Amino acid sequence: MGVFEAIGTDTHEEVTFGIDHPSGLRTIIAIHSTALGPALGGTRFFPYASEEDALVDVLRLSRGMTYKSAAAGLDLGGGKAVIIGDPRTMKSERLLRAYAGVVDSLGGRYITAEDVGTTMDDMAIIRRGTRHVAGLPSTFGGSGDPSPATARGVQRAMEAVADTIWGSRDLAGRRIAVQGVGKVGMSLVERLTAVGAEIVVADVDPAAVDRAVDAHCAKPVEMDDVYGVDCDIFSPCALGATLNEHTIPLLRCAAVVGSANNQLAVAEDAVRLQGREILYAPDFVANAGGVINIAAESQSYSAQRAASMVDAIYDNVKAVLQRAAAEGINARDAAERVAEERIEAVGSLRLRAGATG
Ligand SMILES: NC(=O)c1ccc[n+]([C@@H]2O[C@H](COP(=O)([O-])OP(=O)(O)OC[C@H]3O[C@@H](n4cnc5c(N)ncnc54)[C@H](O)[C@@H]3O)[C@@H](O)[C@H]2O)c1
Repeated sequence: MGVFEAIGTDTHEEVTFGIDHPSGLRTIIAIHSTALGPALGGTRFFPYASEEDALVDVLRLSRGMTYKSAAAGLDLGGGKAVIIGDPRTMKSERLLRAYAGVVDSLGGRYITAEDVGTTMDDMAIIRRGTRHVAGLPSTFGGSGDPSPATARGVQRAMEAVADTIWGSRDLAGRRIAVQGVGKVGMSLVERLTAVGAEIVVADVDPAAVDRAVDAHCAKPVEMDDVYGVDCDIFSPCALGATLNEHTIPLLRCAAVVGSANNQLAVAEDAVRLQGREILYAPDFVANAGGVINIAAESQSYSAQRAASMVDAIYDNVKAVLQRAAAEGINARDAAERVAEERIEAVGSLRLRAGATG
């Protein structure tokens, strides 16, 4: 597939390619939309098998950020960056600062943050070459690691689903299967056990499972068995696309609510879940806690204010589920409609006012 063919499949505003030979930097930054504000999205540093894979990923992820921020009610657009290569062997100060130069050249239309393969410390280095960085360490006046905020938001989304199905947002006594106990999953397990939920966990990393068992009395299951756990809520907190035509028939839960991005392998999987009468909290609505926390940096950061902004995910999920029920559509489509309508309504106002970021 050619570059323009790939980009032409969606409505991205801008795609920038950056290169720095001495450090080996090869980066692509995709700005999907700035209709609601500057395009915020993390920098993914990953050893893509091909440049085409990297381009497809950055286009898909930047579009996802547009929807996530729009549905969360933020004044942010959607963007994303990828750096092609293995972060363990290629990362250097020169590379990160050369990358910062590419971000800076976009004049604030794109704001970067951490993502897979980049850390808060990397953001502090990038900050030396551009001010268009968010999610900095708290020592830099930033909001720090977004994962606890993401977990808080996922819990609120679970409460919204619980209220919809069982008439109470209380999660005490609910059985919840968490797939992936990394930064978000572990924080979520801690929060859920604190409110009396019963937790089952699975992870490819046995040490992560041991930590969840030792610290939070979680019950471990084998990776392939997690789909079939008899539970109230299945919570994908590992990689994307774990819900697909093979795994959805195995589920024995009333709802799916998790942090992973792009949980559904294909759009039809939302229909598959609906067909099995499993309530789905759309991933980009449920997992917006991290970006909401980062957005709170735009005014002088307050953890308390950020937490109350994240708590609004309860209402956002409720509104999406109510809309899906009222219009007879699946929850994913309802969430996309909510985001698109806001972009249409508020974005046009902003563009008329000539705002640039
Ligand atoms: N960190 C955030 O604030 C944030 C925000 C929004 C979305 N997300 C998404 O949430 C998910 C988790 O993010 P994280 O920051 O906790 O990542 P992480 O890398 O810290 O944790 C992921 C965990 O999943 C495990 N895992 C990987 N493959 C697995 C599999 N097949 N089955 C079971 N476990 C598996 C890993 O061993 C790891 O423990 C990702 O999809 C990420 O994109 C994270």
